[in-house]
Amino acid sequence: MALIAAIDQGTTSTRVCITRTDGKVIAQAQYEHAQHMPQKGWVEHDPMEIWRNTRRALGEALADEDISEQDIDALGVTNQRETAVIWDKKTGKPIYNAIVWQDTRTNHDGDPAKYLRKTGLLHNSYPAAPKWAWILDNVPNARERAENGELLGGTMDTWLIWNLTGGAKDRDKALHLTDVTNASRTLLMDLETLQWDEQLCDDLRIPPQILPEIRPSVGNFGKIRPRGPLAGVPITGVLGDQQAALFGQGGLHENDAKMTYGTGLFMLLNTGETPKVSDNGLLTTVAYQVQGQPPVYAQEGSVAVGGSLIQWLRDQLGILTTAAESETLAAQVDDSGGVVIVPAFSGLFAPRWRPDARGVIVGLTRFVDKRHIARAALEATCLQAREVVCAMGGEPTALKVDGGMTTNDLLMQMQADILGIDVERPANTETTVMGAASAAGMGISLIDEPLSLGTCTTWKSDMAGPERDRLVTAWEDAVSRSLDLV
Ligand SMILES: Nc1ncnc2c1ncn2[C@@H]1O[C@H](COP(=O)(O)OP(=O)(O)OP(=O)(O)O)[C@@H](O)[C@H]1O
Ligand SMILES: [Mg+2]
Repeated sequence: MALIAAIDQGTTSTRVCITRTDGKVIAQAQYEHAQHMPQKGWVEHDPMEIWRNTRRALGEALADEDISEQDIDALGVTNQRETAVIWDKKTGKPIYNAIVWQDTRTNHDGDPAKYLRKTGLLHNSYPAAPKWAWILDNVPNARERAENGELLGGTMDTWLIWNLTGGAKDRDKALHLTDVTNASRTLLMDLETLQWDEQLCDDLRIPPQILPEIRPSVGNFGKIRPRGPLAGVPITGVLGDQQAALFGQGGLHENDAKMTYGTGLFMLLNTGETPKVSDNGLLTTVAYQVQGQPPVYAQEGSVAVGGSLIQWLRDQLGILTTAAESETLAAQVDDSGGVVIVPAFSGLFAPRWRPDARGVIVGLTRFVDKRHIARAALEATCLQAREVVCAMGGEPTALKVDGGMTTNDLLMQMQADILGIDVERPANTETTVMGAASAAGMGISLIDEPLSLGTCTTWKSDMAGPERDRLVTAWEDAVSRSLDLV
C-alpha cells in the first residue's frame, strides 16, 4: 500500500498525519507546545520542544497497527511561517527561543512599503528577517559567530528538515534548506529571482552565511537520517502553512482562493505566474513551485487574530470552557446585543496594517451577557474576513474555507450572511497537512493532483442587505475607536 506522511508544525501544536493516495487519513497524532510570553507583545516557542513533539507525533502515528513503515513513500512538511530560529551548527542547540510570527518586538517607525515591490511584504514586525536580526543583536557574540559561519538560521521548516536529515548527530549529512514559499515570508527573497537578495541582507543586517538554500516546494529536500522513525524516506514537499492550505484545497490555478480560519485568518488568491503587487493592503507571496516549472504566485490577506480570540475568551476571560462552546452560547441569542469586538491584540493586519491599534469592546450595557460576547466574537471573525475578501476585489460567488474554526457551523452561516456569497467547506478541513502530503506525493509522482478532501458542505447567505450594512457600519465605527491606542 502506498502511503504519504506529513508534518504540520503549527503555532499551537505539531501534528503528523498519514494518508493513503485516495485521501483517506489512516493515522494522526498531535502535541501542543508551550507559548512563552516573557513581555508584553513577545511570543516565543522552544524549538527543542517542537522537535521533540515532532518525533513523538511521528512515532505515535507510525505505531498505528494498520501501518507498516516500509509503506511510507514520502514525507511532506508544512509550518507556521515567519517564526524565526537560529541555532549552533555543531551542537544543534538554538541560541535563543524561536520568535513567533505574532511577536511585535521588532516594530519600528520606518516606511513599511520600502521593500513591497521586491519582496511582496511590508517591513513591519511580521516577516522573519527582523526577528533573526533581533536575535543576532541581543544574544552575546551571536553576530560575530554568525559571520564566522558557526550559526544556522531558518524558519520552522528549515529547523525540522535540518534535524530530520541529520541534526547535530549526523551534521555532515544535515541539509540546510527552505522552500520558496517560506523564503517569500522573510523580507530577504526577491520575488522574481527566487534568491536571497544581497542588498536586502545588507539593509536588514542578516549575514548570508546563516541563510538556507531555497528550493522549489515540490521537489527534493533530501532523505531522513538512517536512525529513528521514517529512516531513508525522502522529503519531497515543503510549503508554508497558508500556501499548503491553498495547495490542499486544490488551488493550483489562477483565481483559485481559500480562507483559512485558524489562530489567525488567512486568505490566499492564486494569481498565476506573475507576482501582482496590491495597493489594497494585501501582500504578494509565492503560492508554490514545482521543480522544473515556473513559480506560481498569490495575493494574501492575513488577519492576526481569528481563533485566538476564542482562545482568549476561554483562557484569559474564562467565559467559555471549550472553543466549541462559542457556538452553543452564540446560538442562544439572535444578535450581539449591540456589542462589537475589535480583536486588535497586536495591531491590525490586512488590509489596514495599523500597528497602533489595540483591542476594544464597544456597546456594553447591563443587558449584555456572555452569550452576546460569544456572538460578537464570531461576528468579529466574519467581519475581518469580509474586509480581506473585499480587498481582493473581483466578484467571487463562493468562498472555500478550512481550518479549526470552520467546525463551527454557526460561524459558517454567519460568514455566508456577512459576505452575501456561498461558503464551501470540504469534509476534511485539515487542508494544511493534506496540502503538505499532496505536495510530497506529487514530488515523487505517486499522485498527479492534490489528495481528495471529500464532499463539500455549502452555506448560503440568508441575510437582508440592510442588516448586513448595519453590521458593517457598526464594525467600521468600532475599528475607528481601536486606532491610535499605543
Ligand atoms: N468550534 C469552534 N468554534 C470557534 N473556534 C474554534 C472552534 N474549534 C476550534 N476553534 C479555534 O480554532 C483555532 C484552531 O484552529 P487550527 O488548528 O486550524 O489553528 P492553527 O492556526 O492552524 O493552529 P496551528 O498554527 O497550531 O496549526 C483555535 O484558535 C481555536 O480557538
Ligand atoms: Mg495550522
